[in-house]
Amino acid sequence: MNNLRINSFSEYKKAYKESIENPEMFWDNIAENFLWKKKWNNTLEFDFSKSEFKWFKEGKLNITENVLDRHLEKNGNKTAIIWEPNNPLEETRIITYRQLHAKVCQFANVLKNNGIQKGDRVCIYMPMIPELAIAMLACARIGAVHSIVFAGFSSAAIASRINDAQCKLIVTANEVYRGEKPINLKHIVDEALKDCPSIQTCIVYRRELEPTMMVGGRDKFWIDEMAKASKDCLAEEMDAEDPLFILYTSGSTGKPKGMVHTTAGYMIQTAYSFDNVFQMQPEDIYWCTADIGWITGHSYIIYGPLACGATTVMFEGIPSYPDFGRFWEIVEKLKVTHFYTAPTAIRSLAKESLDYVLKYDLSSLKVLGSVGEPINQEAWHWYNDYVGKGNCPIVDTWWQTETGSIMISPLAGITSTRPTFATLPLPGIQLALMDENGQEIVTSAEKSEGRLTIKFPWPSMARTVYGDHQRYIETYFSTFKNAYFTGDGAYRDAMGYYRITGRVDDVVIVSGHNLGTAPIENAINEHDAVVESAVVGFPHDIKGNALYAFVILYDDQNPSEQLIKEIKDEVSKSIGAIAKPDKIQFVKGLPKTRSGKIMRRILRKIASNETDFGDTSTLLNPEIVQDIEKGKL
Ligand code: WT7
Repeated sequence: MNNLRINSFSEYKKAYKESIENPEMFWDNIAENFLWKKKWNNTLEFDFSKSEFKWFKEGKLNITENVLDRHLEKNGNKTAIIWEPNNPLEETRIITYRQLHAKVCQFANVLKNNGIQKGDRVCIYMPMIPELAIAMLACARIGAVHSIVFAGFSSAAIASRINDAQCKLIVTANEVYRGEKPINLKHIVDEALKDCPSIQTCIVYRRELEPTMMVGGRDKFWIDEMAKASKDCLAEEMDAEDPLFILYTSGSTGKPKGMVHTTAGYMIQTAYSFDNVFQMQPEDIYWCTADIGWITGHSYIIYGPLACGATTVMFEGIPSYPDFGRFWEIVEKLKVTHFYTAPTAIRSLAKESLDYVLKYDLSSLKVLGSVGEPINQEAWHWYNDYVGKGNCPIVDTWWQTETGSIMISPLAGITSTRPTFATLPLPGIQLALMDENGQEIVTSAEKSEGRLTIKFPWPSMARTVYGDHQRYIETYFSTFKNAYFTGDGAYRDAMGYYRITGRVDDVVIVSGHNLGTAPIENAINEHDAVVESAVVGFPHDIKGNALYAFVILYDDQNPSEQLIKEIKDEVSKSIGAIAKPDKIQFVKGLPKTRSGKIMRRILRKIASNETDFGDTSTLLNPEIVQDIEKGKL
């Protein structure tokens, strides 16, 4: 992409200025770099009061022509995906753009042969194997909407997501390995599908050759379906604003929100941000260690890198298998130049012997990235000193499932970095810090602190919550007038650099995973012995935050290890193992306001070992605070 690249800090400043003065012209110029079936006639139409945003109206395109077909003529034989298996003894797979294109078209025909049409929703529950990428792009090829569910979620979590979106088909795999642990995804799906009447077909990729129980009429093997399908598939003509995918993210209340991303704006901005943040050269090798089940994988393993014609690594395993040197072994072996991971992974590796890092040749590395949570000083320095050897700029990228693409980040090698600061907004992103009264903080003091908002639309923003536009309005556009509220607190230094301080709502970021406390409490309350519970986050050395549950039992129940285990199992069953609390304390009561609302602020302080609880006089039951503190774990 020739006309997108910013090459110096002065070019960044110029682009930023232009993007604010004339956002439409700015995005028009970028959009010209893509393949359109029909040009758009109105760059942006929006109405904050209805929370409606439309980009590139009337434009027609297909995103797969942009991420695949467009590269075939000149770069058909270039590697699109390098796949690294969980087991290092298994072979690495190289997939060129031409091969990926053929597989995507073929699987698109499989979907069609199974009755999937434009607009239908398809659930994908797969391990990190190339077939996951193929399945998602095949959906996009025919205009079906993919809803990828991270393969660590439970049956109940899959079922609620399938039912929310009324998916017609699900793609999964049989047995897969993460580290030494085998997980049978098909069994988990079978359990989920007991409650999913909308699903007509389940396509199973055989990752392992062990026997797999198939349900007649519903279940089909990937390999058999592919054998029947042609490799030619015309790309469906999509409207710029047609939905591309749904991806669920936790909210502070209620069930997960199905964030809907649309086609053109998402494509353009993931590509633009990828190109500028990472500053790749054509022969570079990029590796993002996220799972495609999260937005990071959608935007920066698949859509962004492929739209730019880059080579992207997909890794099936975990950083600790067969030992804690696995990441660095892969960097050496594949000569990775750009490496993008999460602070939680860095912290977990930094606590192991340094030999795991020093053993490998990491001289191919040029740029390091961080995403998912604030990166602390220690982790930043460890990453910089031992992985980057002081030679690789670190791009600390702040963004969200809802924003679709990176909003705040240094441009590698261009923006000077400051440890723990995500630094400056990308062009097109108009940030504002708001005070408690909804007034914008405009000072350029050394430290302005407030709530982070975005006051002008951007192309890759999620357009709605699937089936619940009201919730979209309430969650994101009701706290502050004419601005999108991120849910994060931040501060800004005198240079205008931003540092994200973390969530200010009831969402806790555990190991980079966004978890709402309400659904975890609901799961705990499912246990027969439990009256009520409250879950809060507390600082954790490796995970960033961990979960602390305060649980009230019925009078006739006694606290026990067994009960703790059962409560954790409830959480695993309803959400997934990632949401299990680290600590469970049984309490006689919870601090409540007179209107019956749990005062989480106080519980957060207890869980974080703080002693100043502020004013507790408005509590209905102030005496309970001391009681809870005494039993603190
Ligand atoms: C929340 C969004 C965006 C991909 C992964 C997470 C936190 C994300 C950073 C960062 C500080 C960060 C925020 C945000 N977050 N990146 N570089 N520095 N905090 O997506 O699951 O939607 O979570 O992750 O709190 O609101 P997500």
